[in-house]
Amino acid sequence: MFHSCLLREDPRWFDTHLPKSSKIPGRIRSWLAESASLTARLQAATGGIQVQVQKQGWGRPFLSEAKHLGLPWNRLAWVREIVLYGADRPLLLARTVAPQGTLAGAGSQLTRLGTRPLGEILFTSPYIRRERLEWTHLPAGIWKVSGLSPLPAWGRRALYRVADKPLLVGEFFMPWVFTLGRGDG
Ligand code: PHB
Repeated sequence: MFHSCLLREDPRWFDTHLPKSSKIPGRIRSWLAESASLTARLQAATGGIQVQVQKQGWGRPFLSEAKHLGLPWNRLAWVREIVLYGADRPLLLARTVAPQGTLAGAGSQLTRLGTRPLGEILFTSPYIRRERLEWTHLPAGIWKVSGLSPLPAWGRRALYRVADKPLLVGEFFMPWVFTLGRGDG
């Protein structure tokens, strides 16, 4: 079984407190550091978004994901991968990884999301809180999906707790997102 329908390999993540993080331009950083719903922000900026599910079901976490989630390296987890479109363009790709134990109780809504964006649960549930945040700059050519920008892409990965159980969400931005809302996007 392969790891991802979106990414050819596990991105190299770095801590948001590293000196190199402070060199990221403000208009990019404002998206990487956003603490409210990215979906709501993209919806407001484009007028309407759609979620295309690429994969949803049991899959193999990347090694760094297994570590963050406290899973043995070969343990399967529930994986959801989507492309979010708005204004007829892909805007954001997301990969969510949840250990089986996270899907019980409050987390069971995750498996029933379908084409509703994850943010609808994440930002409305009182049981969810964000912990660790990391960023990445992906090399061009890492994508398995066609029709995306060939430029390197910025991304972030956040560890959430759903009723105290871990959930890892990676989000990757197409470069034109950083021009939205400035009148030239
Ligand atoms: C999702 O529906 O899986 C999703 C949507 C938007 C995000 C992250 C995940 O920013």
